[in-house]
Amino acid sequence: MAENTLTITDNRTGQMYTVPVENGTIRAMSLRQIKTGPDDFGLMTYDPAFMNTASCRSSITYIDGDKGILRYRGYPIEVLAERCTFLEVAYLLLFGELPNQGELKTWVYDITHHTMLHEATKKFMEGFRYDSHPMGMFVSTVAALSSVYPEARDIHDAENRMHQIVRLIGKVPSIAALSYRHNVGFPYVYPDNDLSYTENFMNMLWRMVEPKYVANPVLSRALDILFILHADHEQNCGTNAMRSVGSAQTDPYLSLASAASALAGPLHGGANEEVLKMLDEIGTKDNVPAFIKKVKDGHGKLMGFGHRIYKNYDPRAKIIKWSSEQVFEVTGRNPKLDIALELERIALEDDYFNKRKLYPNVDFYSGIMYQAMGFPPAMFTVLFAIARTVGWLAQWQELVNDPEQKIARPRQIYTGYDQREFIPMEKRAAASVPAR
Ligand code: CMC
Repeated sequence: MAENTLTITDNRTGQMYTVPVENGTIRAMSLRQIKTGPDDFGLMTYDPAFMNTASCRSSITYIDGDKGILRYRGYPIEVLAERCTFLEVAYLLLFGELPNQGELKTWVYDITHHTMLHEATKKFMEGFRYDSHPMGMFVSTVAALSSVYPEARDIHDAENRMHQIVRLIGKVPSIAALSYRHNVGFPYVYPDNDLSYTENFMNMLWRMVEPKYVANPVLSRALDILFILHADHEQNCGTNAMRSVGSAQTDPYLSLASAASALAGPLHGGANEEVLKMLDEIGTKDNVPAFIKKVKDGHGKLMGFGHRIYKNYDPRAKIIKWSSEQVFEVTGRNPKLDIALELERIALEDDYFNKRKLYPNVDFYSGIMYQAMGFPPAMFTVLFAIARTVGWLAQWQELVNDPEQKIARPRQIYTGYDQREFIPMEKRAAASVPAR
């Protein structure tokens, strides 16, 4: 018998089946042949929340959650964060190789020259309520770009796809900055092509009456590092949304808006905002033990802790902790850091968190750093979305070019009624469902 196979005995029928094992995985469709009789549909797997199901082959990002390893295209995240710029990493994620000097120059030029928003998009954003959540504005405006660039629907044309990718990476900081300016009631600042990706973003956020915005180099580099850390993270909830919606051959603007919608949730990218709310609620270091007790008693979660894949310290959280020290030298120490450090210290010594392998994730320290840099908490997830746009697009390209991919369409286990006799209106009793 071939070595790379799995033999299954169906105890319902006594039949044996041999199915191939490849990359430590069996194909779910191999199970379909396992039937109790000719009318049986065949065996399926049940995996709510994809706890043990691979949905694609990918060569973009590698994570070993037990060892706390994260690599983009084979390069450790620590090396990329220290040695590269965000746009260099974006090139790596999208094209598979680090750019040489000439390639990087052209790439940066292309992105820089697609940062401007169509005036119609600006007007569209002016229609949002003054206090709209920036993530709601971000998602809706990215979706609205689909109406500005209708040619994006031709997803089979590689050149056209790349054009939309460059547009999206160029424009997401402009949308993010405009949503911030809208909240604070300041006029839109147009992009400045002399500045780097993060410097220009800071210019669009914070320039007031000065003729030229000059970013603090420590802060713009720290933001660049944060963007590198958030650029991709293999098949998480948002990326799965990108791939799932993209599998219907939906254009990249609408697909990316779906991915960003998933990211907005508090269990995903929205956690960084929640961490700040939690630190506010705790108030002082002395209240940390009582808060931890509350969490252990089942009242809420320790936001910024735990991960589906990492059962070890999230390597991104380590880099953020290191980078935040440089930021605090410029901005002054965020007093919330002491509460966070105390939370981490107590949680890491506690059996509840140890047994469940709950460690700080990327969102635990990022918010404290963003706040020190001047971002309001409602903007934190938008910052995550700017960076993750690159990963979503790299994953989308991979999906479109993968001959094995089809429209994503899960199965279900039906738990409802069998066929029922129709009840005419006059014979219907009051339904025992809650009144609306
Ligand atoms: N605080 C307290 N208990 C927790 C936490 C937490 N942050 N996270 C998980 N647990 C407990 C959970 O209650 C469960 O306990 P029990 O076994 O007694 O039922 C156990 O740990 C396993 O948790 P789970 O919910 O089954 O794990 P999951 O893989 O489904 O969820 C998670 C992963 C990230 C959604 C979850 O850890 C969580 O909600 N964390 C807080 C939110 C957060 O920080 N999210 C950001 C994730 S990283 C960035 C990103 O993805 O965008």
